[in-house]
Amino acid sequence: VDERVAIIGGTGALGYGLALRLGRAGVAVTIGSRDAARANDAARRATAAVDDGAFDGLQNTEAARAAEIIVLAVPFASQAATLTSIAESLTEGQLLVDTTVPLATAVGGRPVRTVGVWQGSAAQQARELVPAGVGVVAALHTLSAAALEELDHGLDEDVLVCGDSRAEKRRLSALVERIDGLRCVDCGRLEMARYVEQLTPLIIGINIRHKARAGIRIVGLPEPG
Ligand SMILES: NC(=O)c1ccc[n+]([C@@H]2O[C@H](COP(=O)([O-])OP(=O)(O)OC[C@H]3O[C@@H](n4cnc5c(N)ncnc54)[C@H](OP(=O)(O)O)[C@@H]3O)[C@@H](O)[C@H]2O)c1
Repeated sequence: VDERVAIIGGTGALGYGLALRLGRAGVAVTIGSRDAARANDAARRATAAVDDGAFDGLQNTEAARAAEIIVLAVPFASQAATLTSIAESLTEGQLLVDTTVPLATAVGGRPVRTVGVWQGSAAQQARELVPAGVGVVAALHTLSAAALEELDHGLDEDVLVCGDSRAEKRRLSALVERIDGLRCVDCGRLEMARYVEQLTPLIIGINIRHKARAGIRIVGLPEPG
């Protein structure tokens, strides 16, 4: 795959860490921000951190227009507004990857709790806000942003992927598995994201308790092929 990836909120913890890892894997990455200068600054930092990385920075709406795969990496509190703001930039055939966890921090609560989402999950809320011809998958919720950003840290974990189209899940998995140490596991339809999103507060709690950067590993799966 040689698809350009745009990361909406790519200046933030998860988005920037993911940008570094994808860039190191040879993927062209556009870092998106509400502010073009902030996006450019993050792209400059990423270029300094990753030899041979191809990074640029654009305002979110321009970033969304410029790429084939768009990763949404903003806090739940701004998920709907951000999607609404980029919806006009999205066109048929693009793939939106929703990483949103509906943490209770969105309403002043604790990061080890979530809030209910009417649609069943943040991912299903995203589906409602994105034009019909744009694919939507949910993934990357259980990765630690700190572990991604620290490039010397060897990853060894699974990425749980939900979506209504097998082809879209394969498309995202082909991208993610370019990053050393990550394996994608197809977890079923987009509505299954309601389970995956709830794992993040569990892992945050484990990380606090054990001073760790824990991830998820599904055991017992057959070897690919
Ligand atoms: N952190 C993790 O380890 C982790 C792991 C898995 C999943 N996630 C999920 O990934 C998403 C991003 O998490 P994060 O920790 O990376 O968040 P973050 O660093 O707090 O924010 C990410 C970016 O979102 C933009 N943003 C912040 N507030 C906004 C607002 N009110 N309106 C619009 N944009 C806003 C900012 O970019 P600009 O100011 O440049 O626009 C910011 O850099 C969340 O949904 C989270 O649940 C995070």
